[in-house]
Amino acid sequence: MGKLLAENGGVMESTQTDESTDAGRFDRLAKEWDVAPMHLDRTRDVANLMRHKLALSGREALEVGAGTGLLSFALAANLGRILATDPSAGMVDVLKGKIERSGIGNIKALRTDDSLEGVAGPFDLVMSQMALHHIKDVDMFLRRALTMIRQGGDIAIADLDTEDGSFHGGEVTDVHHGFDREDLGRRLASAGFEDIAFETVHVMKRPVGEAMVDFPIFLCVAKVPQSL
Ligand SMILES: C[S@@+](CC[C@H](N)C(=O)[O-])C[C@H]1O[C@@H](n2cnc3c(N)ncnc32)[C@H](O)[C@@H]1O
Repeated sequence: MGKLLAENGGVMESTQTDESTDAGRFDRLAKEWDVAPMHLDRTRDVANLMRHKLALSGREALEVGAGTGLLSFALAANLGRILATDPSAGMVDVLKGKIERSGIGNIKALRTDDSLEGVAGPFDLVMSQMALHHIKDVDMFLRRALTMIRQGGDIAIADLDTEDGSFHGGEVTDVHHGFDREDLGRRLASAGFEDIAFETVHVMKRPVGEAMVDFPIFLCVAKVPQSL
């Protein structure tokens, strides 16, 4: 991805934000992302369950919609090479800064979206945390992800169960309102995945009006068959 095309047809510098797009909103949120306990708590639970469910040691992983790379960092000691990708320039700037400061050797950052443009596979694992609901064509992404994973490899997706839209509030309309597990399982199967399993990994609590509302998050793991 190069510079962002603005809605008026001009080219936006990556430091500008356009609140009408996902990338613009996440550019603004990037600097504060890692101080929010809800992001850290969720990542801890997702990483723990992934360690429990998947063989990770030394495996090569691609994270899609990595944001500031919380999940990649949480699993860096378990995995081999990790490519952490995100379309938001602000998120990728923060991620690159974290990689530099930490001196961590096995995470690389790349600015790209679910098109996976510029990503050189294959990987043993494709993972994403809270990014699938931002991807417009989920079926196309699942088919694309499959081509990036070695035979016998895994996909791991953590995301919201179906909700009524209140997770993002009324102003954010270009997202999926979570996912029905059975429906997503069928879509993974038709993309070519097998051994598809879902588990509740975390419950996020967010204020909606006057109330605190629970938003359950699932972890879905599935395999690429040994022979396609
Ligand atoms: C809720 S944030 C989650 C960030 C990170 N995975 C985490 O859990 O902290 C969603 C991320 O998805 C990214 N995103 C939005 N649209 C995307 C797309 N079409 N393909 C890939 N990632 C996307 C955003 O830039 C953002 O960083």
